Amino acid sequence: MKKNLSNLLIIAYLLCSIPLFAQKKELSPTPPMGFMTWNYFGLNIHEKDIRELADAMVESGLRDLGFNYIFIDDGWQGGRDRKNNMIPDPQKFPSGMKALVDYVHAKGMKIGIYSDAAPLTCGGYTASLGFEAQDAKTFADWGFDYLKYDYCGAPPDWKTAISRYETMAKAIENSGRNMVLSICEWGDRSPWLWGEKVGGQLWRTTADIRDKWYGGQKVEDNRQLHGIGAGILDILNINAELSAYAGPHHWNDPDMLVVGLYGKKGAPSSDLGGHGCTDTEYQSQMSLWCLMAAPLMITCDVRNMNEATRTILTNKDMIAIDQDPLGKQAERVVNNESWQIFVKPLSNGDVALGILNVSDKTQTITVDLSQLGITNKHKAKDLWSKKTINIKKQGKIKVKVASHETKVYRLMDR
Ligand code: GLA
Repeated sequence: MKKNLSNLLIIAYLLCSIPLFAQKKELSPTPPMGFMTWNYFGLNIHEKDIRELADAMVESGLRDLGFNYIFIDDGWQGGRDRKNNMIPDPQKFPSGMKALVDYVHAKGMKIGIYSDAAPLTCGGYTASLGFEAQDAKTFADWGFDYLKYDYCGAPPDWKTAISRYETMAKAIENSGRNMVLSICEWGDRSPWLWGEKVGGQLWRTTADIRDKWYGGQKVEDNRQLHGIGAGILDILNINAELSAYAGPHHWNDPDMLVVGLYGKKGAPSSDLGGHGCTDTEYQSQMSLWCLMAAPLMITCDVRNMNEATRTILTNKDMIAIDQDPLGKQAERVVNNESWQIFVKPLSNGDVALGILNVSDKTQTITVDLSQLGITNKHKAKDLWSKKTINIKKQGKIKVKVASHETKVYRLMDR
């Protein structure tokens, strides 16, 4: 109730006070994809690892599948020089940022950087409040393509958040380089209502993801998840309700993929119960994130992936669902105690159908397509087993789904 009231106030405020961002940038026609340093390395990042990761993204084929960004998260900063220009930590980045950016670009990839709308970042490093124009220029001069802009240390009210993100968006606009702006205030102030208007291309919708399936209790409000630790299902339950707000150049961001982390000790994703997931659960995360047209940010060590992780991350058919140019986020059309069903229309008239078993037991689930308004689809390709089945006249799909598994079908006319 409280949240609804504050959402109404935000909408009224946006209508009256904030003009649509002067030159709306069309920078992200499909959800961004790549490797993000945070869950695996935490603050302990080093240019050597980042170069190796870029190499591994190419060698593994992930770059060519669309994972074409390296996103540097928190921990890179070394303070400011005498002219107040931000500098990287010389121990971690001995060759400097420009050299690293050039290296990643030469691999045919793009690269992102991280800062925060307060004096210090979440990790306690130098951030951009009061230096937005100068920092955006620095990032642009280094050649960055993307900025993740965090919100630790900033006041809790939504007006300040809107204004601080708008300031950074304008600074990017004036920096001389196109950079995607990723808003990271964890969904606490309904950024899906204002993120695009202030010049962002994506916005986190939830608290930080942990490497676990479920936090163990239903929450009324996303903000409770900060303390409990958000698992895949917790995040799904928030992000799935926001399908109306996603589309080309403006995406809901339900946070990084934890696929392949297996509860890595010492990683930020391992605290608050992040002891790891099963491969079935990781496969579900990939499926659900693709159905929700989510940004796909790999965080496991792609230099050393096992076969299961590789199979999950390199599923071309799933990636095509995520990257479909129509840019629709699936609607969750069924959500009961035992299963959930997702429907995502695709640009060529096909439809992606997701069936998630949230229960603890294997279930046989029957989906009546006509009840979902899906008619005239005669074939269904299972995007994990790759088997195509004929949909019989009754228009039903009946399938055995393991506990926490998600089946995904591409429904086609012929
Ligand atoms: C916040 C963000 C994370 C990560 C850390 C870095 O918690 O939500 O994604 O960027 O800060 O300190």
